[in-house]
Amino acid sequence: MYRFRRLRRDERIRAMMQETRLHPKDFIYPIFVIEGVNIKNPVESMPGIFQYSIDRLEEILEQVKEAGIGGIMLFGIPLHKDPQGSQAYAKDGITQRAVRFIKERYPEIYIVVDICLCEYTSHGHCGMVQGEEILNDETLPFLVKMAVSLAEAGADMAAPSDMMDGRVAAIREGLDQAGFTQMPIMAYSAKFASAYYGPFRDAAHSAPGFGDRKSYQMDYANGQEALREIAADIEEGADMVMVKPALAYLDVLKEAALTFDMPLAVYNVSGEYAMVKAAAANGWIDEKRIVMENLTAMKRAGAKIIITYHALDAVRWI
Ligand code: PBG
Ligand code: ZN
Repeated sequence: MYRFRRLRRDERIRAMMQETRLHPKDFIYPIFVIEGVNIKNPVESMPGIFQYSIDRLEEILEQVKEAGIGGIMLFGIPLHKDPQGSQAYAKDGITQRAVRFIKERYPEIYIVVDICLCEYTSHGHCGMVQGEEILNDETLPFLVKMAVSLAEAGADMAAPSDMMDGRVAAIREGLDQAGFTQMPIMAYSAKFASAYYGPFRDAAHSAPGFGDRKSYQMDYANGQEALREIAADIEEGADMVMVKPALAYLDVLKEAALTFDMPLAVYNVSGEYAMVKAAAANGWIDEKRIVMENLTAMKRAGAKIIITYHALDAVRWI
């Protein structure tokens, strides 16, 4: 009889047999930046997560630096919103100012910027709107402007999350023309229309004012289409591709890992975080063990990079 248990006998051999290990550099930590001064607002549905004004960012950046994680992902929350999302590509927009601030004081921190208009538009959609329709091609130049202006501010990587068709090619071309040929694009390629984004939309003030995002984000029933989305983004020049959310989509992540010879990211989203925190707060689960199990599963399924609100905690638990 083959005895699997020989290699599980004690901690020493189990440690040697471990196939997947988490490392601080696996993680990207999302940070919400809000206009104003001296603000550190707790996000109610995401215990442990805050909106920071720029002057209060240092507190969290110190923790990021100390933890030695891979990088941060910035989400700006502007005061002024309009139909064109003009603060998304304003030279002195909240995200541009935050990037400059971080670049100056923490040049060692790798800054990924989310490229999308929903935090900046008055209607809360990720693109230009005409009547009830979310326009595709008309949106692309605005995404390009946003990416270029954040590159000029000093961002290290652009991560388009809008799900418009053709945006990766458009952003690549725009960045190249502006001289940012070395700036990588991490595409939110297989991004599903998901109820798991609920807490994020509270945190980033980005809920759509009418309708939903189903005409641009993917139907969660579709795995085949996810692979086609990923293939298209690779074709358009993405340097890294993403599956989002994480836990309910590990099959998609795994299939992508087997299909494409590309670095993969996964986004462990706000609703996934909120569920863990809520159950832990009730004493129903062991937060540390659940988080480590979840994050390890994401890496085991094929993620090279994990974007997660648990990043700072996880580093302490590795
Ligand atoms: C912007 C964006 C969203 C998230 C990341 N970028 C929200 C959305 O698509 O509505 C979600 C992240 C999370 O839930 O943690 N488009
Ligand atoms: Zn959006």
